[in-house]
Amino acid sequence: MNTIKIAKTTYPVLDVIKNRWSARAFSNKTITDEELNTLFEAASWAASANNEQSWQYIYAKKGTEAFDNICNCLLPGNQPWAKNAAALIVAVARKTFEANNTVNAYAGHDLGMANAHLLLQARAMNIYCHPMAGFNKIKLTENLNLSENQDAFCVIATGFLAGAETLEEPFKTRELTERKRKNIAEFTFKL
Ligand SMILES: Cc1cc2nc3c(=O)[nH]c(=O)nc-3n(C[C@H](O)[C@H](O)[C@H](O)COP(=O)(O)O)c2cc1C
Repeated sequence: MNTIKIAKTTYPVLDVIKNRWSARAFSNKTITDEELNTLFEAASWAASANNEQSWQYIYAKKGTEAFDNICNCLLPGNQPWAKNAAALIVAVARKTFEANNTVNAYAGHDLGMANAHLLLQARAMNIYCHPMAGFNKIKLTENLNLSENQDAFCVIATGFLAGAETLEEPFKTRELTERKRKNIAEFTFKL
């Protein structure tokens, strides 16, 4: 494993949190429907406002036309490595409440909650995920025929890890660069 990416924490957080990172080096290993459904099940158990479950996942496996359709919408900083992922998952928020069609102000928040579950479940299964907002949203919305009520927030490259040496620069260096975070004192405020 690429140990440089393991978080150096001050406090003893869960291993899946320490060991998850946004990988770019994906191997040829295929992902099964069972594995993908396990990730989606994990996502489904996230908390959400009013239990609205505003998330939707539209996905395709590598080697399909649908995969290429999503991949072609990624920006040049993402496409060269994300094309090797076993699956591309588009994370979509349903913008309104199902019950009364009013705006759900928490739709994006709750999609993020579900995505976090998905990423951590993946890591527990040795599957790596890399969320990307770097895509042409107009094109992807068109390609997937999304409605006005569907907001594609990110595309998650998902698959199994390969060695960093499989990447071209500048991606190789990024794969070998330590992850950094703000100190908790910078974003927490004890009253
Ligand atoms: C909503 C969102 C959008 C992102 N977009 C991109 C992207 O387009 N390209 C990319 O390489 N990484 C993208 N990332 C990954 C972040 O750069 C990464 O999570 C951050 O640098 C922290 O690194 P880590 O996930 O390895 O801890 C995105 C992450 C999120 C949550």
